[in-house]
Amino acid sequence: MKLTQEEQDILNGKEGDTKAKILQTLVEFGDLFGADKLVPVTTSGHLVTSFGIGLLKPVYRTMDEIIAAGLKTPYPFTVDPRPIDYQNVKCGVLDKLIFSKIMYSKQKHYEEQLSKIGLKNKNAFTCTCYLDEVGNTPKYGDILSWAESSAVVYANSVLGARCNRNSGMLDIFGALIGKVPNFGLLTDEGRKANWIIEVKTSKLPEAQILGSAIGMKVMEDVPYVKGLDKFLGTELTDEVISYLKDFGAATASNGAVGLYHIENLTPEAKKFKEKIIHTDAKVYVIDDEELERVYKNYPVMWKNASAKPSLCFIGCPHLTFYQLNQWTEKIEENLKLSGKRKVCIRTVMTSAPDVVEKFKETENYLKLKKFGVNISSICPLMYTNNPIAGSKPIITNSNKLRTYSKARYYKDDDIVKIICGVK
Ligand code: F3S
Repeated sequence: MKLTQEEQDILNGKEGDTKAKILQTLVEFGDLFGADKLVPVTTSGHLVTSFGIGLLKPVYRTMDEIIAAGLKTPYPFTVDPRPIDYQNVKCGVLDKLIFSKIMYSKQKHYEEQLSKIGLKNKNAFTCTCYLDEVGNTPKYGDILSWAESSAVVYANSVLGARCNRNSGMLDIFGALIGKVPNFGLLTDEGRKANWIIEVKTSKLPEAQILGSAIGMKVMEDVPYVKGLDKFLGTELTDEVISYLKDFGAATASNGAVGLYHIENLTPEAKKFKEKIIHTDAKVYVIDDEELERVYKNYPVMWKNASAKPSLCFIGCPHLTFYQLNQWTEKIEENLKLSGKRKVCIRTVMTSAPDVVEKFKETENYLKLKKFGVNISSICPLMYTNNPIAGSKPIITNSNKLRTYSKARYYKDDDIVKIICGVK
C-alpha cells in the first residue's frame, strides 16, 4: 500500500504510539486485501460493538489506551443497539443475574468509554442509524468506516455510500484515524455485480426470504436484481426503504452480501444501468417454488418443535416509523379476527430510540400498548444469545435473528396470526 508522507509520519510515531498502532492495524488489514492506499472517511462512524461483555477485556484495555492518548472521532458516531432493557423487556431473576453480573457486566463502563471517544448521544444505540430520525445518514459517494452488516449493506445499496464489511474495532480505528484502506466495495470495480437475479414470482416476495435465498446463493458477491421494481416501483418511498432494509439484512446474514443493486430503483442501478454488471455474471432465477423451497429448509432448533412460543421479537433490524404503524394495523385487524383484546404471546417490537420517541406521539403507540405489545430499543439477538434465553421457544420474523440464534422464523402474515391467536 502506498502511504502519504503524513501517514508514514504517523506510522513512525510522530503523533504518538497509540495512533501509530491504530494506523498500523489499518495498513496491515488493507495489505491483506490488496488495498492500494488509504482514503479519507467522509462522515460519521457507526460501531458494531455495543455490548459490554465481561470477557472482552482487550477491548476495554484498548479503549482505555485510546482515551489516555486523547483521541476522539472527528464526527460523532452511532453504535448498535444495547443488549438489555429491563424496563420494556422484563427478565426473570436468573436471567437478570446472568445479564448484569456475567454477560454484560461491563455495559456501563463500556458506554462511558464510548462517550469519551465521540459517541453521539444517549439515543445513538440502533442498527438503523441511517434513518432520517436518527440522522447518521450518509450521502451518495460518502466513504464510511462501519461494520454492522445490515447497516453496511443498506448504506452501500440504498444510499450509494461506500463501505467494506469491516469487523468490530476496525470500525472504531477507521473512524478515529479518519482513513480506511481502499479495496473491495470502495472501488468502482468492486461494486460491479457478478450475479443477475431474475425475480419471477407471482407477487412481491417476503423481503426476508428473498434476501435469504439470494444471500445463500451469492455469498459475498454483488447481486443485480431484476424484476423487483415491478412490485416495488422506482422510488425509495418509506415502504420501499423498509422492505430494502429487511431484504438487505437477510442477504448480509444468510450470506455475506455487502452491496446489491435493484434494477430501476437503487441509485447505482439507476445511474449505470446494466453497465454495472460484469459480462460473465451468473444467473439465479427465483420463482414462487424456489422461495418456498428456501423457506421450508429452515431448521427448527427448539428442543420441542411443537412448544408454545414464549416470546416474539419483531424488529431485527430495528423497525422504521412506517413499519411500527403497519404492525399496529396488522395486529388490530388480527385481534378483531380472533376476538381477543391483547396479544396472547409476549411480543416485543424493537426500533431506534429516536423513532420510538416519534412514535410515542402517535395514537398507534397507545394502541400497541393497549394490545399488550412492548416497544424497546434493544438488540433481540444480544438478548437471546445466552443459554437461558436461548433455550426458550422464541419466534421472530427476522431471518438474521433466525440465523444467529435458536429463534424460529415465521412470515409476517403467519407471525401476526400466532401472536393474535387467530386459528
Ligand atoms: Fe440490529 Fe441486533 Fe438485529 S444489531 S440487525 S437488531 S441482530
